[in-house]
Amino acid sequence: MSNSPSMTAPAVGKAGGASFTPGTPGAEMPQRRKLLLAATSAIGAVGAAAVAAPFVASWFPSERAKAAGAPVDIDIAAIEPGMLLRAEWRGQPVWVVRRTPEMLATLDTVKPRLADPDSKAAQQPDYAANATRSIKPEMLVLVGICTHLGCSPTDRLQPTEGWAGGFYCPCHGSVFDLAGRVFAGMPAPTNLVVPPYMYLNDTRLRIGEDSKGA
Ligand code: FES
Repeated sequence: MSNSPSMTAPAVGKAGGASFTPGTPGAEMPQRRKLLLAATSAIGAVGAAAVAAPFVASWFPSERAKAAGAPVDIDIAAIEPGMLLRAEWRGQPVWVVRRTPEMLATLDTVKPRLADPDSKAAQQPDYAANATRSIKPEMLVLVGICTHLGCSPTDRLQPTEGWAGGFYCPCHGSVFDLAGRVFAGMPAPTNLVVPPYMYLNDTRLRIGEDSKGA
């Protein structure tokens, strides 16, 4: 398939009899964006409070933390079902999504249309090479960088016009599902990366380090 931005990507899903082509230039995908201000901190720092949507969050670790590639701790308590929180780790955007049961249910239905539905490629730690690409099914953690040429995809978390939702890269039209798995035939060759992470407790994640010392 051509990587031209003007290409027409194949429809990735159907619902209610309506088809939708996420990669079609100019296609409108009305959505209800729910973003959180990242409540993050480098290890040892005091975390900030999360703020509910519609703000697009940004968080910048200290220069010293960036230079060291330090892990980042994230307070996930305020992420409501269906919401996405943005953070930054090693200069990269990191997304944390609390998936609803409905969102999780889509992961099975889209499998026949995915390039790597079982996460065979090494795009995640072993503990995330499962059906939900996560430690706990509801909580998705991804590096928000497209595996084609490095753009940052846009979240499309709400189902709309026949697409169950996921992530859409506007640069060349790659489409990913709600586990960051790329649909077949897209410019992006592999699924989005799941970074190493671990739970410090029920409401706190550490990105960049796991129980294996990643
Ligand atoms: S950078 Fe080309 S599709 Fe994302």
